Amino acid sequence: MIEMQRISMVYPNGVEALNNISLTMERGEFVFLVGESGAGKSTLVRLICREFLPSSGSIRINGRDITRLKRREVPLLRRNIGVVFQDFRLLPNRSVYDNVAFAMQVVGASGREMRRRVPESLEMVGIRGKEKMKPTELSGGEQQRVCLARAIVNKPVLIIADEPTGNLDPRTSMDIVELLRDINIRGTTVVMATHDREIVDALRRRVVVLDGGRVVRDEWKGAYC
Ligand SMILES: Nc1ncnc2c1ncn2[C@@H]1O[C@H](COP(=O)(O)OP(=O)(O)OP(=O)(O)O)[C@@H](O)[C@H]1O
Ligand SMILES: [Mg+2]
Repeated sequence: MIEMQRISMVYPNGVEALNNISLTMERGEFVFLVGESGAGKSTLVRLICREFLPSSGSIRINGRDITRLKRREVPLLRRNIGVVFQDFRLLPNRSVYDNVAFAMQVVGASGREMRRRVPESLEMVGIRGKEKMKPTELSGGEQQRVCLARAIVNKPVLIIADEPTGNLDPRTSMDIVELLRDINIRGTTVVMATHDREIVDALRRRVVVLDGGRVVRDEWKGAYC
């Protein structure tokens, strides 16, 4: 599903964030990316979303080298990847419903599809009944549920979550991760960067540890350290 070969990333200011990373993630896997602050986790997930290109190396998603995509092909890739961030990034002046519907609108979904999929996604993350509320009227945990609904609404093959529980209390964090696990059990590949030791130890899934831009450990059913 994701095949990274000899990825290196040097930012324009000369910082070497990733150094010769080769990693394969299979369809349906749940992978934690852990490591100290500055280890390169966010850089790696941003490369998978093709926010920018690596300095060298290739990244294949479903066989396609995304470093060679033409500009007009990028939206199609993004349609297949749902992204969740620590700071939610919801549109503050739009309702919960509109926030989720917007993700479908930008990929050109029909009105009919939207009327079916948006409520379905909100139901899946347990946020039905709050469709008309604004993000500012919701708790952090609820906002992250909306982000999850937005991430799954286009039925992506892959969900990338960069510290999705970074701003949540332990109980709410576990709820969010359980939702990610449910999404994963239904067949979506999940890659989650996190500092949350408790979550990693509770789930016992694959753990890839980065340190100074290198993979220093890669364990199935792993623990945080
Ligand atoms: N846009 C950027 N320009 C220059 N350097 C950057 C940029 N983004 C990140 N870096 C540097 O790249 C390295 C890796 O950063 P990255 O954000 O990938 O780490 P991280 O593992 O996600 O850390 P954290 O746990 O704090 O989120 C760090 O040294 C960081 O300072
Ligand atoms: Mg980060």
